Amino acid sequence: MEEINKFKVFRIGKGKNTSYYTRSLYPKYRGFDENIFRQKGEEFREVDAERSKFIAAIAKGLSQTGVKEGSVVLYLGASHGYTPSFMSDIIGDTGFMFALDFAPRVVRDLVFVCERRANMAPMLDDASHPENYKDLVPQVDVVFQDIAQRNQVEIFSKNCDMFLKQGGFGLLALKSRSIDVTRKPKEVFMEVRKELEKKFNIVDYRELYPFEKDHAFFVIKKK
Ligand SMILES: C[S@@+](CC[C@H](N)C(=O)[O-])C[C@H]1O[C@@H](n2cnc3c(N)ncnc32)[C@H](O)[C@@H]1O
Repeated sequence: MEEINKFKVFRIGKGKNTSYYTRSLYPKYRGFDENIFRQKGEEFREVDAERSKFIAAIAKGLSQTGVKEGSVVLYLGASHGYTPSFMSDIIGDTGFMFALDFAPRVVRDLVFVCERRANMAPMLDDASHPENYKDLVPQVDVVFQDIAQRNQVEIFSKNCDMFLKQGGFGLLALKSRSIDVTRKPKEVFMEVRKELEKKFNIVDYRELYPFEKDHAFFVIKKK
């Protein structure tokens, strides 16, 4: 098992046979029926890169994520908590995550995940209205966003303006088809890149194929 770029994400195997893991912060607890790998008394949870754009971007060679032990993260589009649970392993018990989604059906599941993980809090809110939660969320080290909305770049930008510390990292999983189904994904990605460059330093960019079709992943740093 080797660690990828000191990201606290580990891999076993090569090429199509690679599997990815995080070190379990809460050993013996599996929230998603994931496979467990044990080594030298430690427990690692397998994370599916086809189900997690964060892990897909790391698998595609991301050089920086900003997500590390002790990070405070605002996670937009937390859904049932799948990727948030692995990020919770990475930030550890000195980090904290505000895990937000606007769909009550998925937040119900998210609440159960957060009950087992002391470093995560669920929030039922709309990411396009950050003013709703400005009194609940502090300045954070990382804003992560994975929501399939037409105005996803504007939503990301607003949340970074309001909550991201200077020098903090913004991670944006972008679905081109939610922005415009009629245009070539690459064109949409380049347009978004230009838009983000007006305000932020872009430190990395990956297309997520073959893990996800028509998705790109941007890493920005707040100036
Ligand atoms: C692709 S899923 C996220 C999957 C999750 N990031 C993971 O990897 O486990 C997208 C989620 O974004 C949520 N979403 C979409 N628009 C939103 C908004 N404006 N505010 C909050 N959540 C939103 C949806 O309810 C959905 O649960």
